[in-house]
Amino acid sequence: MQLIFVHGSGGSGEAWRYQVNHFKNAVAVDLPGHPEGELLNTIDGCADWLNDYIMKMDFQDVVLIGHSLGGGIALQYSLKYPGRLKGVVTVGSGARLRVLPMILEMLEKEVEEPAQFGEFASQPFESVEKGFAEVLTQKTLENGPTAMLNDLKACDQFDVMDRLEEIQVPLLALCGDQDIMTPPKYSRFMVDGIKGAKVEIIPGGTHMVFAEKPDEVNKAIDIFINEIE
Ligand code: COA
Repeated sequence: MQLIFVHGSGGSGEAWRYQVNHFKNAVAVDLPGHPEGELLNTIDGCADWLNDYIMKMDFQDVVLIGHSLGGGIALQYSLKYPGRLKGVVTVGSGARLRVLPMILEMLEKEVEEPAQFGEFASQPFESVEKGFAEVLTQKTLENGPTAMLNDLKACDQFDVMDRLEEIQVPLLALCGDQDIMTPPKYSRFMVDGIKGAKVEIIPGGTHMVFAEKPDEVNKAIDIFINEIE
């Protein structure tokens, strides 16, 4: 089994440090434009890119694990390219990912004239261990407001709420109970719509639950991959 981790908006593969260190056969990708290459402005385009990557690496029995935007990419991938897929884990994600207009407006301004992006980049990691939070903030800063805006606009367009019953691969939806960006309701909705899917809500976790509660997240993924093996 090959585990592929996909980061969230404006982020990087480094987000999955605790998972890549824990699991065998695990890689965490940097999406194009994060910071190398050209940004892709749709979740569908990211799923196509991921498929090219999986083909190039000749990975088989793939489990896609995606955070937020990355979870949307994993869902889209499971609809479009189920062939090599063994399972999907979404972490703080959903079948529809509308974004607060205020966030998009603020980022539009930052792209024009950066002023508050430092605070914007660090704020999501407030509950993460300090050293790791600094690394993740730095990665967000390197990618910059253009990547963040691009990714959140892609999320805002994403909606597969009506297509969940087409998903045939096993799915686990993880979410922190304090996640206000993609609340537990979104994970429960996915699981209600996908046959055999499971949900686990992690107490005390926010939108960055994979970095805040790695033991709980890794244990849930361990159980899931043992079940589908
Ligand atoms: N799964 C299940 N239900 C969902 C959903 C999902 N993925 N996405 C939206 N819904 C529900 C909402 O809870 C809402 O239900 P309600 O009418 O019972 O309250 C309904 O569908 C419509 O919601 P939405 O499509 O989001 O439109 P909206 O105009 O009500 O709200 C926002 C728009 C941006 C205010 C809202 O989506 C929000 O607060 N988002 C979270 C913050 C954010 O920016 N997250 C970033 C995600 S990457």
